Amino acid sequence: SGPLDLAGRRVVISAGGTQEPLDPVRFLGNRSSGRQGVALAEAARDRGADVHLVAANLLVPAPHGVTVTPVGSALELRDAVRAAAAEADVVVMAAAVADFRPQTVPDSKIKKVAGSPPPTITLVENPDILAELAQDRLRADQVVVGFAAETGDAETGVLALGQAKARRKGADLLVVNDVSGGRAFGAADNTVHVLDRNGTVCAEATGTKRDVADAILDAVVPLLVHG
Ligand code: C5P
Repeated sequence: SGPLDLAGRRVVISAGGTQEPLDPVRFLGNRSSGRQGVALAEAARDRGADVHLVAANLLVPAPHGVTVTPVGSALELRDAVRAAAAEADVVVMAAAVADFRPQTVPDSKIKKVAGSPPPTITLVENPDILAELAQDRLRADQVVVGFAAETGDAETGVLALGQAKARRKGADLLVVNDVSGGRAFGAADNTVHVLDRNGTVCAEATGTKRDVADAILDAVVPLLVHG
């Protein structure tokens, strides 16, 4: 067994992917399985932390020995994370949160009407929960950790995009993972770069999602204030 370096610490972790309702039976979603967030919850638990998992539509079982709050949409996730974060030493936003949600959600199913054009769906922006947590600092000395799934593009590599995001979001640590070509999502293994708030790489890890989780927590521990 490893170190109990999170004994007595309260750790909030969001995991999974939000589903933004379109109507009572449909949603806009993403391919996050929740595996990396669940691996973090297990790792933090095994290192002695009191873990609260805010679980958005997980495709894997939630671990034993942690408190679980299930949520569906980004707005629900925000409420649950903020409530739990008020007491937390560490908040890790591992969930894939939808940037946008349908503006209105009808009470009944959207129907196909013969001869009519397809419906137009208007989206509105969701709050950036990570940026809010980093800004508001619900508890003094709280360590806020974000994730960035990047594919890179023709001009800019994954790491450079992550560095810009680290500075923009204001989190203490940003975990950048390369999801180009379908990597990471739903997979057992992962490769990440852990950046500090200036965008400097402070750790890198490849391996199982549990290995990556422990490497991320190794980067969190030195940021915790003693006591
Ligand atoms: O900007 P981007 O979506 O790539 O940032 C990803 C990080 O921000 C993740 O930690 C995710 O949980 C968080 N996020 C959030 N609220 C949003 C969108 C993303 O907290 N609306």
